[in-house]
Amino acid sequence: MRTFRAPGRVNLIGEHTDYNDGFVMPVALGFSTWAKVSPLENRTLQIHSENFGEEVEVNLDDQLSPRGDWSDYPVGVAVEIEKAGHRLRGARLEIRGEVPIGSGLSSSAAVEVATACALVAISDLQIDKRELARLCRQAENEFVGARVGIMDQFVSLFGEAQKALLLDCRSLEFRLLPLPDNIRLIICNTMVKHALASSAYNERRAQCEAGVKHLAQFLPRVTALRDVSIEELEQYRAGLSEVVYRRCRHVITENARVLNAADALERSDLRAFGRLMASSHQSLRDDYEVSSDELDLMVELAQKVEGVYGARMTGGGFGGCTINLVAEEHDEEFQQTVASEYERVTKLKPEVYVCTAANGAEEIR
Ligand code: GLA
Repeated sequence: MRTFRAPGRVNLIGEHTDYNDGFVMPVALGFSTWAKVSPLENRTLQIHSENFGEEVEVNLDDQLSPRGDWSDYPVGVAVEIEKAGHRLRGARLEIRGEVPIGSGLSSSAAVEVATACALVAISDLQIDKRELARLCRQAENEFVGARVGIMDQFVSLFGEAQKALLLDCRSLEFRLLPLPDNIRLIICNTMVKHALASSAYNERRAQCEAGVKHLAQFLPRVTALRDVSIEELEQYRAGLSEVVYRRCRHVITENARVLNAADALERSDLRAFGRLMASSHQSLRDDYEVSSDELDLMVELAQKVEGVYGARMTGGGFGGCTINLVAEEHDEEFQQTVASEYERVTKLKPEVYVCTAANGAEEIR
């Protein structure tokens, strides 16, 4: 039996830019999913989920289709690896995860990546990590039916301790940026699960595609919003609906914010970094419309606490978590003030996680 671990992630800045060929800056979290794997003699996949207390068995030679539950993530990964021309052997997988589900911290990518690493190893395959990230995303796009970008799977494989990962989602080139040790990354969970997330998510994607289609008539080199400047958006705005215009504006300004945030981090200018987080949140709230009352409240409460450089919603949105950049010495005060005020107003008890940037997926020996 072998064991593989893959982490969830939190995104510092660069939201809804990955599927627009843009830039993101996530970190891999200390929260992980583990997959224990042992070979079987036939082509059966036996998958046990400790979190759901359920077991699913499929035959890799059958035409597999989604069941609409947790098993779609690991089965989808197996299907995509085989579709890419690799042959898997049968295996028993035991999956256990500690990434809070439905809170925007990528529990699904952690399951996909842990499964992929386990199946590839047990089948003696050599698949490059970038390709593995693509196959895991593909599983979610094709088998699960959520048209997500590549950020979560990529950072789950490539993340490093104490570092943020600046990723160009078009070329898949990346840089690891050291995080200062005198700050804390604090995640606040609104405890509102992101319901409706996948249909609204796919709708946002379609709106971005509509924007590209319009702009490409005037700017033939444009294949994604990544290729458009804010001046060009303004110039060719006529003919775009108000909503699609705002969706495009978010993506274009957010890409610029990620690059500026990377500069700020390299200069250790945390105030500038924090201001970019604040504008990112505003843009997600007003232009992209993926925030929620609870997320907005959590961010407002955080911004009032001393020692907070920046606060914003993180992940797909519609619920889930905020990410906060807090000076180490104000860590306790932050946790107490934000949690108690949030609970007083919403009657929901938030969970607060003080995080460190962790390493990406690995085999546990
Ligand atoms: C989800 C998706 C990612 C990304 C974010 C928004 O987490 O899985 O690919 O699009 O939403 O930034």
